Amino acid sequence: KVVAVIMVGGPTKGTRFRPLSFNTPKPLFPLAGQPMVHHPISACKRIPNLAQIFLIGFYEEREFTLYVSSISNELKIPVRYLKEDKPHGSAGGLYYFRNIIMEDNPSHIFLLNCDVCCSFPLTDMLEAHKRYSGMGTVLVIKVSAESASQFGELVADPITKELLHYTEKPETFVSDLINCGVYVFTPDIFTAIQEVSTHREDQANLRHLTSFETLQSPTRALPQDFVRLDQDILSPFAGKKQLYTYETMDFWEQIKTPGMSLKCSGLYLAQFRYTSPDLLAGGDGTKSASIVGDVYVHPSAKVHPTAKIGANVSISANVRVGAGVRLIGCIILDDVEVQENAVVINSIVGWKSSIGKWSRVQADGDYNAKLGITILGEAVIVEDEVVVINSIVLPNKTLNVSVQDEIIL
Ligand code: GDD
Repeated sequence: KVVAVIMVGGPTKGTRFRPLSFNTPKPLFPLAGQPMVHHPISACKRIPNLAQIFLIGFYEEREFTLYVSSISNELKIPVRYLKEDKPHGSAGGLYYFRNIIMEDNPSHIFLLNCDVCCSFPLTDMLEAHKRYSGMGTVLVIKVSAESASQFGELVADPITKELLHYTEKPETFVSDLINCGVYVFTPDIFTAIQEVSTHREDQANLRHLTSFETLQSPTRALPQDFVRLDQDILSPFAGKKQLYTYETMDFWEQIKTPGMSLKCSGLYLAQFRYTSPDLLAGGDGTKSASIVGDVYVHPSAKVHPTAKIGANVSISANVRVGAGVRLIGCIILDDVEVQENAVVINSIVGWKSSIGKWSRVQADGDYNAKLGITILGEAVIVEDEVVVINSIVLPNKTLNVSVQDEIIL
């Protein structure tokens, strides 16, 4: 049997995601019309002999109750949310719930970061992992040398694929091969985390005796039960024939900002062509709006037949799109109204917002720039004929004049 664990983090971790994380935990923010965490969950569902999926985080339990019960029913696999009383780090969180995770006596445990977007080649990873017969296998990808420093950089043996060297977000270039935040382990991982934690306790006891060391040690602020998978496990266990790598040639992105969520929404929509074509709009009847490229429209949304939608557009529940509207590259959240002849390009429109007639809400679409996409927070009103370009508008604002390159507080 196999189990999967998805690390969802908690409220303090989503700060770069503001203002979209004000009323929805980041893991539940919709990408391609499905909560972010839904994509790794559906990938796990395809693993043979999967017994359970656990989401581990420090968000309030009630924020996930509805989602986990509906997804469990839909996939016919138990999905449970396990709440930490405080952050334990990516490995510490796993260890904290070891007894629950080991309930079914699984031979393998998948561990996935919630905020990565990829094709999750989990079954292939598991096969490779069994061939390597180590304690763990890490999904890795080659990226540009300039972007590698935002991630864990690593060196792998070109033949055996063993992880030889690992450095988390190094200041000087090590390698363009990076950690994708997707792992498979044998239950030995728990012993490894236990070792790190015990070692830290010993050090802490020693430090009571030598106060000079207390000032010098970089780990002095970390509690004994806080263990990071990258720095505390991958680095020390590299080169010991315990960790191996599996390289993906497919797409991979990290979702830390709203801009990246818009990009990843598009990547997931494109993937739906292969995995769930039934979720994509278009092809049905002549009365619907004209659809360009990959588009998701929630069944409860009302889109006028003269509107033109796509590519990369995702429209959530109860949205109303008026006549002559043009939408390109955007996420329109629940209960939004887009009135006649408005245009929305490269933007995220928050819950219950309203965009007036002949208005334009748009941006350049540079997903990595701070104002590269326009974001309207919850319940923003853009009045008729107003133009909003490359801006972020905080919740509950009314715009009656046009703005450009601004953050409206
Ligand atoms: N439950 C729980 N508890 N989850 C946590 C905790 C915790 O205390 N700390 C982090 N996480 C979750 C985050 O929500 C995220 O999904 C994942 O664990 C990793 O988060 P970080 O530890 O903040 O690392 P990162 O995202 O900056 O970088 C990691 O992932 C990259 C790939 O996306 C590193 O492992 C990098 O090396 C890697 O390239």
